[in-house]
Amino acid sequence: MSNDIAKSAAYQGPQRVFSGVQPTGSLHLGNYLGALKKFVDLQDDHDCLYCIVDLHAVTIWQDPKELAQQTRHIAAAFLASGVDPKKAVVYAQSGVRAHTELAWYFNCVARIGWLNRMTQFKDKAGKSSEKMSVGLYDYPVLQAADILAFKATHVPVGEDQKQHLELSRDIAAKFNHDFNAPNFFPLPEPLIKGPGARIMSLRDGRKKMSKSDPSDMSRINLTDDADMMAKKIRKAKTDALPFPENEHGLEERPEVTNLIGIYAALSGMTDAQVISQYAGGQFGPFKSELADLAVAKLSPITDLMSRYLADPAEIDHILGAAADKAAEISEPILAQTRDIMGFWRRGL
Ligand code: AMP
Ligand code: TRP
Repeated sequence: MSNDIAKSAAYQGPQRVFSGVQPTGSLHLGNYLGALKKFVDLQDDHDCLYCIVDLHAVTIWQDPKELAQQTRHIAAAFLASGVDPKKAVVYAQSGVRAHTELAWYFNCVARIGWLNRMTQFKDKAGKSSEKMSVGLYDYPVLQAADILAFKATHVPVGEDQKQHLELSRDIAAKFNHDFNAPNFFPLPEPLIKGPGARIMSLRDGRKKMSKSDPSDMSRINLTDDADMMAKKIRKAKTDALPFPENEHGLEERPEVTNLIGIYAALSGMTDAQVISQYAGGQFGPFKSELADLAVAKLSPITDLMSRYLADPAEIDHILGAAADKAAEISEPILAQTRDIMGFWRRGL
């Protein structure tokens, strides 16, 4: 991915990168390639905030005894993947009040019809939407608040977040319009492109790799040991045909497309280069080299994660200092937002 991120024409404020990951379950290869790897690539040249979104997590019940530990777990995954707390602000969402406050203001800007179109809610709620929390329905509004509380201009995420980012842009545009505050909030751009934006299940190439898939064989977790990673790749579903000869040979072969995409994303090669390296051969050797590649890239992260998790006090220190920094950035933006909306304040 190119680090030259486009500047929106009208918004004149500084560029800022924001992204969030929920502290639910352990992270997998899709999270690493779709999000964490991009976080690391961006931190050298941009002002970045990476947030562990525990307020989003509780839209579905979370065990209070485990939530804080899950937050540390994600923090450890960020750090182990190479996110550097000296360069990027890594903090927990619930520790910075701007998120919830701005979410309320945005609740009064976003329209019910917009939320009714959100496919992630429909997927998560299934047939029982009436029984879901109001928070789950409102989830994308809180996400807009996360981003805009910092006037972030760019948001590295996987493909599944595209619709939520469009909603954030709509909320920003409507706020700016309704309160006659042109360009007050930027219209945040998703940074989705690049290999790894949509990693699919190892058991079904039409479903995305997900923390919530009941089959652990469908995903490679960052906490899996080398043997487990190799086993999952060896057993990954393919089809009866040989390795494709060229990119046309990927049509209607979602599992094969996915494995080649993973190989390309991990090695820095293009799909076409991977195909020409293995063209027409059997899957056995390809899978065994893919397993070696995955282990070489991911097991140092797994090892480092355990080391960070062995020192929770250090993680808490990093999260605490970063929460202060995040509050420092967001408070003036909140104060301006309140003034724009006309709320009473002392000394008015
Ligand atoms: P979540 O675990 O749903 O909080 O997602 C954290 C980040 O990982 C988001 O930016 C997602 O878009 C990204 N992500 C999740 N699953 C995948 C996947 N299968 N492929 C690529 N990116 C993903
Ligand atoms: N909804 C995102 C996901 O499930 C997580 C998230 C919450 C997020 N707030 C965000 C991502 C702000 C980017 C920006 O993956």
